[in-house]
Amino acid sequence: MRRGAARELVLGIESSCDETAAALVRGGREVLSSIVHSQAAEHARFGGVVPEIAGRSHLSKILPVLDAALAEARVGLDEVDAIAVTTRPGLIGSLLVGLAAAKSIAWVRRKPLVCVHHIEAHVYSAAMELSQPPWPCVALVVSGGHTALYRARSPLDLERIAATRDDAAGEAFDKVAAILGLPYPGGPSVSRLAERGDPQRFAFPRFRAKHGTPGFSFSGLKTAVLYHVRGQDASRPTPVPEAIPDREHVAASFESAVVDALVGETLRAARRERVDTVLVAGGVACNRRLRAEMGARAAEVGVRAVFPSPAYCTDNAVMIAGLGVELLRAGRLADLSADALAS
Ligand code: KG4
Ligand code: ZN
Repeated sequence: MRRGAARELVLGIESSCDETAAALVRGGREVLSSIVHSQAAEHARFGGVVPEIAGRSHLSKILPVLDAALAEARVGLDEVDAIAVTTRPGLIGSLLVGLAAAKSIAWVRRKPLVCVHHIEAHVYSAAMELSQPPWPCVALVVSGGHTALYRARSPLDLERIAATRDDAAGEAFDKVAAILGLPYPGGPSVSRLAERGDPQRFAFPRFRAKHGTPGFSFSGLKTAVLYHVRGQDASRPTPVPEAIPDREHVAASFESAVVDALVGETLRAARRERVDTVLVAGGVACNRRLRAEMGARAAEVGVRAVFPSPAYCTDNAVMIAGLGVELLRAGRLADLSADALAS
């Protein structure tokens, strides 16, 4: 906590994908409340997020979630110094619900509005709990929608240095879960099954770009798992999940291939950028194998690896309110004509 610094109280609102969330954060670090409504159950039978369902669900949940966050924090809207809201990137119909709510509050209560970039907020989520700031560092943001590396000089100064060429890592977990007959979201269900498996049983491919260009690719890995489970003959009947041989070993070997790629590429970037800290954020940062391997392999080369608490890895509004304080301090206020951007 910064002693003596202004202790702004910011209301954060997040609705970029399938979590409706609101939080109150004081001084960028002190969490007064955090409410997250996950739509996972509403999307589960489709095996992924359905944008129209997401938008409608945000619309029905946004005000109850806001009420709950204010009640948990025991504060009224008049005490809030600013409203911070995710405006990009995300599903446009989802972003607009949070932005419309934030604008309405800012307009009616005459409060400053702050627009937050979702990826920058994920990075901030790993920084806000630390006693020592991590900057400069290499940040890996790894979620259902994004897998990219950033050169991070401060919370408001991120530059993308590498990204996935196809699927995001979380998306690969979700697709492999579907192949293995495991429930959505796939990350937690694949990694739970993987705990009982042998990560070395199957040598699934690890992507390395030619000429050493940094980046990730997970679609080849996903296809390798698909062929392994179903064979290459598409006319063959899909096996019932319980009848898939060595399901736990497939899950563990897949997870290990993803983690290997994430850890290898992140530590190579840290060496290139000459930084001594790597920061990992986003939903996949919950993954236990990733946390353990990144920590161990970073330590071997004298690099510190930092992660948010698991509750702040997946989408939440604490990170939005937290970064909102930084933006407020930097004077980066939005006006009421602010727009949302899908990408
Ligand atoms: O950050 P997030 O909540 O939403 C996006 O911004 O995309 O990330 C959700 C993603 C999903 O793909 C989910 O399967 C993945 O994070 N995830 C995990 C784990 N927990 C969530 N992936 C691997 N292992 C986990 N334990
Ligand atoms: Zn996210």
